[in-house]
Amino acid sequence: MHYQWYPGHMSKAKRQMQEDMKLIDVVIELVDARIPYSSKNPDIDYIAKGKDRVILLNKSDLADDVATTAFRRYYEEKGFHVCTVNSKGGNGVKNVMNTVRAACKEKLEKDRARGIIGRPIRAMIVGIPNVGKSTFINSFAGKACVKTGNKPGVTKGKQWIRLNKELELLDTPGILWPKFEDQTVGIHIAMIGSINEDLLDQVEMSIKLMDYIMQKYPGFLAGRYNVPEEGTGEEMLSKIAEKRACKKKGGELDLEKMASFIVDDFRGGRIGKITLECPEDFTP
Ligand code: G4P
Repeated sequence: MHYQWYPGHMSKAKRQMQEDMKLIDVVIELVDARIPYSSKNPDIDYIAKGKDRVILLNKSDLADDVATTAFRRYYEEKGFHVCTVNSKGGNGVKNVMNTVRAACKEKLEKDRARGIIGRPIRAMIVGIPNVGKSTFINSFAGKACVKTGNKPGVTKGKQWIRLNKELELLDTPGILWPKFEDQTVGIHIAMIGSINEDLLDQVEMSIKLMDYIMQKYPGFLAGRYNVPEEGTGEEMLSKIAEKRACKKKGGELDLEKMASFIVDDFRGGRIGKITLECPEDFTP
């Protein structure tokens, strides 16, 4: 899939999201646990002003557990309610309802004080493309969900998914765009392969990744490729290609092909559970 980020699309999506905000109580924002900073668009803080907020650190099966815990604290300290999930495998999805309840506690208490009992919480799921919004909705809703159709008194055409007596989801997730202007964000998004941006070629990307992995996760590359971890990422690329006999017809090493295998291995979690960011990078 190729995404093009025309300003027109962005502002239209943003306007739509702002409209939809009027209908909901809580925003459930998915971020990728491998890049919990770069996959979070700060515009949502403005768009969702005044709403209760939940962050789901998704794809936690691919991320470093220690870093995930650190980011969980980082966002909790910023006032978010946070849950760690693996929407694909289902881990952590069961805890989300409790987290949503906790996020909406004040609102629910206010309702109760006014004698309003049993009004379902209304939520919107948001996140950048490929972060796992649809996978999460399917996993969270399971078979129990019912499309409730149009509601009298609310904007025509909005579909709601009733998950249980307590919660309804707006069925079209809000798509946010990453902050490409920030170069590190762009590179990290490209590395996890969420959006097909030609910011780096595969060779360059694999080298950057390996330099980072050797520094942060010593032993991971040696474990995966059975080569000693010595020298730079660039040297590692040649060594791994040599070891795997990844060559072109004339016998010359096929570094492009090897690089794309390495990048794919990283994206699929086959090198190990790796996170590309840590909270300290973003704490002034
Ligand atoms: P979106 O709606 O936000 O655009 O994302 P979507 O649910 O389509 O998920 C994008 C990809 O991420 C899918 O992979 C999906 O399986 C995967 N994914 C979502 N959540 C998780 C998770 O918690 N862990 C892991 N490991 N993967 C997750 P795909 O390759 O496009 O499809 P498929 O081959 O998995 O079906």
